[in-house]
Parts: sequence; structure tokens; C-alpha cells
Amino acid sequence: MVIQTEPAPLLSVRNLRKYFPITGGILPRARAFVKAVDGVSFDLHRGETLGLVGESGCGKSTTGKAILRLIEATEGEIYFDGTDVRAMGSSALRRLRRRAQVIFQDPFASLNPRMTVGQMLDEVLKVHKLAGDRSGRRQRIRELLDTVGLLVESEDRYPHEFSGGQRQRIGIARALSVEPDFIVCDEPVSALDVSVQAQVINLLSDLQERLGLTYLFIAHDLAVVEHVSDRVAVMYLGRIVETAPVRSLYTEPKHPYTRALLSAVPRPEPRRDHRHGRIVLEGDVPSPVSPPSGCPFHPRCWHPLKDDACSRVTPPLESVGENHAAACIKLSRDVELPPKTG
Ligand SMILES: Nc1ncnc2c1ncn2[C@@H]1O[C@H](COP(=O)(O)OP(=O)(O)OP(=O)(O)O)[C@@H](O)[C@H]1O
Ligand SMILES: [Mg+2]
Repeated sequence: MVIQTEPAPLLSVRNLRKYFPITGGILPRARAFVKAVDGVSFDLHRGETLGLVGESGCGKSTTGKAILRLIEATEGEIYFDGTDVRAMGSSALRRLRRRAQVIFQDPFASLNPRMTVGQMLDEVLKVHKLAGDRSGRRQRIRELLDTVGLLVESEDRYPHEFSGGQRQRIGIARALSVEPDFIVCDEPVSALDVSVQAQVINLLSDLQERLGLTYLFIAHDLAVVEHVSDRVAVMYLGRIVETAPVRSLYTEPKHPYTRALLSAVPRPEPRRDHRHGRIVLEGDVPSPVSPPSGCPFHPRCWHPLKDDACSRVTPPLESVGENHAAACIKLSRDVELPPKTG
């Protein structure tokens, strides 16, 4: 008998917390904390894309930065390819920096305006001692530009000479230059026109297939992650409130927050919530300095079964289907919802 075991995940995150201290006044000690990430757990397998979605300020970028040790987590465990990221010393961190890269929303801000694209890529290759001597690096730079769909002549040009989409391609080339396994794509297309968004997303998908990359793909819009993700995790106030394979999440969303987000996404096929129209969330996201008690979503929850218990009980992320989990104490009662207008 052959026993098949699941391969170990490339990235494993458990109970990740990042609390930013707020200092001020005459007291040097922190008076309060921004609970930016408040107990996030997930696994990411090789070659897979996890879409991380949620409104502005819910902790998506902080999660990505903590995983890459661009900021230090307050609590929790992060394992990359079996190694404890939080315990890494300088040489292990250097190896991590090669294997795990990031692409930001605004590549222009992270590109040196005084360096040509060729000089910038050459520097990265030199620092990481890749592609051999000068001519080897030159060859590799041309290969990288070609890989991301830029003309070879681009190497002699400066960042300001490129359009937004082209700059994002430069950002992708830089990330690829160190031959990573894993890339945090932090809203890589949010600043681009819709037509250009599709091109960059297609490029990222092609690269994933060709190079076997693993992505954590951050976006505030559920429509963007649908086409790139294998699984999606929805965040609200520093926590994951629902996670599922992409199809289940879009066809059978469970959490009232996910359902509200999805009802705002135009879709061709009929969906259960379409019958009920758009769910309009009232009020703003509460402050992560003093998040609501119980379920963090309860003050804005539209669910007819919402009651006192929702403000008292913090719902754990529980299984609601195959590989599908949601954090809502009302989900076990499968009731037909009354029509919503808006
Ligand atoms: N260095 C910092 N110091 C203090 N607070 C911070 C810091 N970085 C982020 N925060 C706060 O942590 C919370 C989460 O921020 P984060 O940038 O992770 O959100 P996000 O989901 O990426 O939002 P966006 O969609 O706007 O990029 C926010 O309230 C933010 O103001
Ligand atoms: Mg962000």
C-alpha cells in the first residue's frame, strides 16, 4: 500500500500578530497599540497562489512584511521551507531575501531615479553574486527584460521614461533577478489602468507557471484576485474571517463580510446573493487600536441572526465545507436569508 502524504507547505504562518506601539505625550512607553495583524494563520504550498483580500488598513501589507522579516512580528510562528523565519540570523536572512521577494503597488517609489534599468539590475546581480562576470550579468539582464516583456533597449533608460505598467514589469524583473521561489505581490496592479492590470496579471500567471513560483497576492478587490488565486483569504481588522478555494469562495461565500464584498463585484453568472441585490455595509472599519469586542465585524454586520452573542464571543475560524473555513458563530444555522435592498 502506498501512503500518500501531503507535501510540506512552502510557507506556514501560525497566530501571527503585529501590534504597533503608539507612543506620545511625556511617557516614553507605549500608551496603546495598533493591532494591525491579530492572529493570522495559513499555509501556502509550492506553486500555489493565496489571494489576501480586505479593505484598506486591515493588515494585509503588515502580514506580507512580517513574513519577509521587513518588520518584526510581535507574536506567532513563520516557517519558510521548514525554517523558522523569526529565528533567522543574518546569513539565513540573506538566503531568505533571495528566495522570498516582494513586488509593491508603486514600483516607481522603490526604483532609484538616477539609475538606468540595466544599472539597477546589474547591482542586484552583483550583490547576490549571480550570473558571473560583467558579460554574464549583461546577458542575464537582457534575458530578464525579455522575460517580463520589455525591449532589450530598456536597459539604458531611466524609470521616469516608462509607463506605470512598464515600471511594474521592471519591478517584476528585479524580483525575478535573484531567482526566488516565493513572491509577495502587494497590490501590484492597484495603481494601473484596468487594461494594463490584465496584462500584468497575465504576466504574473505565466511566470508562475514557467518558473514554479509561489505567490501571496494582496489586493483590496475580490475581482482582482479571482483570476490569479488558487485560494483566497479574506481579512477584516487584522484577522482572516474566511478562507476557501477560489471557486467555493466566489460561488458559496459564507461570512457576512465576504458576502458583502462579493455583492459589490459585478459577475456574469447568477449567484445566490444576486437574488438579494447588493449588500451595503454601513459605517467605517473600526479602529484597530480598540477593535470591537467579540466578532470584530459585528458593529457592521447585516446578518439577520446577529445578536448579543456576536459582541461577546470571538468566533474562531471553523470549517464550513471542504477546505473552507469561516469565523462566524451564526454560520452553523443554515437559514434562507430575507431579501436585502440597497
Ligand atoms: N509602521 C506602522 N506604525 C503604526 N501603525 C502602522 C504601521 N504600519 C501600518 N500601521 C497600521 O496598521 C494597520 C494595518 O496596516 P496595513 O498597511 O497592513 O494595511 P493594508 O491592509 O495593507 O491596507 P492598504 O489596503 O491601505 O494597503 C493600519 O491601521 C495602519 O495604519
Ligand atoms: Mg497595504
